[in-house]
Amino acid sequence: MQIITEPGQMQAIAEKLRLNRQLIGVVMTMGALHEGHLSLVKLARESAGTVILTIFVNPIQFGPTEDLHRYPRPFEQDVALAQSAGVDYLFAPAVSSIYPDHYHTTLQCGALAEQFEGVQRPGHFNGMATVVTKLFNITKPHRAIFGEKDAQQLAIIRQIVADLNLDITIVPAPIVREENGLAVSSRNVYLSSQERSTAGILYRGICYAEQRLAEQESDLHAVAAEVKEMIDSEPGCRTDYVGFVNEERFELAERAEQGKEYRLLIAAYCGSVRLIDNSRIRAQGQAK
Ligand code: PAJ
Repeated sequence: MQIITEPGQMQAIAEKLRLNRQLIGVVMTMGALHEGHLSLVKLARESAGTVILTIFVNPIQFGPTEDLHRYPRPFEQDVALAQSAGVDYLFAPAVSSIYPDHYHTTLQCGALAEQFEGVQRPGHFNGMATVVTKLFNITKPHRAIFGEKDAQQLAIIRQIVADLNLDITIVPAPIVREENGLAVSSRNVYLSSQERSTAGILYRGICYAEQRLAEQESDLHAVAAEVKEMIDSEPGCRTDYVGFVNEERFELAERAEQGKEYRLLIAAYCGSVRLIDNSRIRAQGQAK
């Protein structure tokens, strides 16, 4: 595995790989690699000849009160994990080479970026979109693997690819979970062992919703309210939002149509740690 820090060098390597007809798969991360990230690398390995992993803690997607400075950066450990997962190139640039002095341009993602996560985190998705687009241009991938864990991020990236005519296939990867259902996340290290176990309520809420839709319930608003109630009744847990969106447009959905797919989105605090989770659920029943 080669470690690259300069965007120009990474671009030159990617260009050469393309000339040699190598299929490039990219996995973008902020480091502190865990099983979730490694599952993305595995998918990339299966579908591309060359795998590039990027590690970059992107300052412009953090709000002023967020955890940019205390975000975990165990670089040596990440290098070892990337190597054993079969990464070919690890691209880990400095902030100054991604955002040099006099850097100005940012993407504006519009309405999709302003709901759900965008309410609590204004500017987050524009910052994410900007760095993802820059990293696309630097790594020149044919395929890019993103986790369904961040469903709104994935929807926005698909929108960017469509809107900007990027010739990249976006490959979604299923959510990797701990034993109690808690979605694996770099931020789980902030949870106490007690909070880690109560945080399993988010997944129990998801399973409950899946069961309700399997029983042909079509009132998505009511199911979301029930899930919210479940999580809010767990000591130490408090929801920020619980809602269904339709899978195609990521718009709030209140009633399910038979056969259509919806995504249940959850954000909740366990203690002081804000967690997000989601599930894609197909409506089984007749609309009532
Ligand atoms: P980060 O939070 O490090 O996540 C990197 C990728 O790993 C994302 O595609 C995310 O959805 C995926 N991921 C995280 N936890 C996962 C899990 N439990 N199961 C499956 N996939 C999981 O998302 C970002 O970084 C940044 O916003 C980034 C896209 C790198 C831009 O800065």
